Amino acid sequence: MTPLQERRFLFVTGKGGVGKTTVTVALARHLASLGKRVLITSCDAKERISLLMETPPLEPEVRPLADGISGVLLTPEAALREYGSMALKSEAIYGAVFDNKYVRAFFAGVPGLFEWAMLGKAWYHSVEEHPSGGRRFDVVLFDAPATGHGLDMLRVPKVIVEIVPPGLLRRDAERAWTQFQDPHQSGVVVVTLPEDMPTNETIELLDALSSELKLPVARLVINGVIEPLFSEKERKSLLSDLTLDRDAPGSEGIAAGIRRAIREQVQHESLVRLRALELPRAELPLLAEDAARPAAIAKLATHLARTT
Ligand SMILES: Nc1ncnc2c1ncn2[C@@H]1O[C@H](COP(=O)(O)OP(=O)(O)OP(=O)(O)O)[C@@H](O)[C@H]1O
Ligand SMILES: [Mg+2]
Repeated sequence: MTPLQERRFLFVTGKGGVGKTTVTVALARHLASLGKRVLITSCDAKERISLLMETPPLEPEVRPLADGISGVLLTPEAALREYGSMALKSEAIYGAVFDNKYVRAFFAGVPGLFEWAMLGKAWYHSVEEHPSGGRRFDVVLFDAPATGHGLDMLRVPKVIVEIVPPGLLRRDAERAWTQFQDPHQSGVVVVTLPEDMPTNETIELLDALSSELKLPVARLVINGVIEPLFSEKERKSLLSDLTLDRDAPGSEGIAAGIRRAIREQVQHESLVRLRALELPRAELPLLAEDAARPAAIAKLATHLARTT
């Protein structure tokens, strides 16, 4: 299997709030430490990438964020303008066509067009070359929207390839789709928490990726793993008797122990299910400190490097 660091497009997705942005930035730090030129892309207007990188907010133009790491905010308007200008070979013609309010209203109603403009721009940067030749970036990371929207976004190039008549739009979508499906060049990084609902949703997401979209999974990242305090035997015995005399001395401590045992049991069951998927995997600890601090990101980056 092609190592993660050799791929040029990584799509980071997962349920809302599981740590996609944190993982994207930790991954960027890890790849940059290997000497890769990384571009982080986000289509979230309220992006947290810049907070984690300690830089001003991302902009629709590519900007350097740190050594080896650049960033860009993908907005539908800017992405469509750039794409339209490239396709029409002129910003002036683009302006004449696209700045017309009826044309804009028309495009706003075309399903998937804005999604493709943003994903297509991110993909374009993964094949972009310097005017003097040679690739501009080694790898593009896409901090994708949460599962449902992330999948919808990935479906767009597939649909374009299937239904749009031959032309410029389909040609680019075909190139992107071929690259996204190639495990040597691309991969989806699926982020999850070791909890019941996120695990169910992750298994559904992985199923859609393999059966419907046929996209390679580059990593399953299990984020927020707690260090068990109890052995399996201790956990079982704590959970076997849930009747607690609340007035008895020490009952508060026992209640806390039971709550922790329940949490560890849920994590244990989720990890068993996730590990059984036999995907290349990284497990990141739940940090006690603020995960948005650079030292915390650096710690998570070392865990990403230790993939099983
Ligand atoms: N391993 C970790 N240990 C402790 N806190 C973490 C860890 N990973 C992420 N967090 C915290 O969890 C919160 C959510 O993380 P993040 O913003 O990366 O999630 P997200 O999946 O990108 O969310 P959204 O779906 O809203 O974009 C943040 O406060 C982040 O600092
Ligand atoms: Mg996020």
